Amino acid sequence: MMTESDSEFLAQSDSIAQGLRNVAEEAGIEYESLSETILHTMTKLRSKPSSVFPNPPEYRCEFDGEVTEPAVPAVASTHEFFDVVKARASRRDFGVSPISKTTLISLLAWTFGKRGQTIAYDWRDAPLRYCSSAGGLASIDGYCIVFNVDGLDNGSYYYDYERGLVRRFSGQMSHSVSTLIPGMTWLERASALVVLVANPGRVDHKYGAMGAKLSMLDAGVAAGHLELVATALELRACVLGSLPSEALSELLCLNEGQIPLASLAVGSRA
Ligand SMILES: Cc1cc2nc3c(=O)[nH]c(=O)nc-3n(C[C@H](O)[C@H](O)[C@H](O)COP(=O)(O)O)c2cc1C
Repeated sequence: MMTESDSEFLAQSDSIAQGLRNVAEEAGIEYESLSETILHTMTKLRSKPSSVFPNPPEYRCEFDGEVTEPAVPAVASTHEFFDVVKARASRRDFGVSPISKTTLISLLAWTFGKRGQTIAYDWRDAPLRYCSSAGGLASIDGYCIVFNVDGLDNGSYYYDYERGLVRRFSGQMSHSVSTLIPGMTWLERASALVVLVANPGRVDHKYGAMGAKLSMLDAGVAAGHLELVATALELRACVLGSLPSEALSELLCLNEGQIPLASLAVGSRA
């Protein structure tokens, strides 16, 4: 059933959508649908990239929370790459067994983990991560909400590639997450939800008006990478693009400016 705040939110979305159509029309950008209008508007936004950073770029968040696990991937896959590609499919039929904490950390680490470091923008110690990102600026961070993981307390965590898994919030969240969207009760059986969070501030300085498009591309690249790693680790997984960002921001205790863009629900096969 739709609540009063749901209908208020839908009304507000409609009015924002109309506002965007009006802005596009004023700028002489007219397309059939709202998605076309937004995509064409975003791809037309350009600025001259600035590779001069007066201070070292910020590649990660610095949170005080307790570090529960190290950042390194403890589990690797022995499957051939093209067998993994063949096996990938959206799976929502999670088994009842929990996944292990080493599998969850390995999933995060093989995607958002640090594979080395380099000099970038004339500054030392720039991280090189397993998944690619625009300008190497690591605009997407990995967070997770733990529902049923062997060896890890339920709650939300930030994956910090330097320090490890940093606790953000403790408590049972599977029901709050699975009821965010009607008809998604299968999500309650997932072991964890990995959330891809954009930090637009990391790309703004270099890319200006192009930053929004690049953050979204970074999230898409990371989501595809994450899904293949999950398959290689023999997890069942499904990408989710429709979870409302306000609710996720609250559950993950995000900072102002950070935006959850996509998620991957993961669970066991057994
Ligand atoms: C960006 C993106 C968003 C998605 N969002 C959802 C979602 O909100 N709910 C869901 O059940 N599946 C979601 N999916 C999974 C698709 O439904 C699935 O990829 C599609 O049906 C094709 O099936 P396959 O992945 O098994 O090839 C999403 C997939 C992508 C790439």
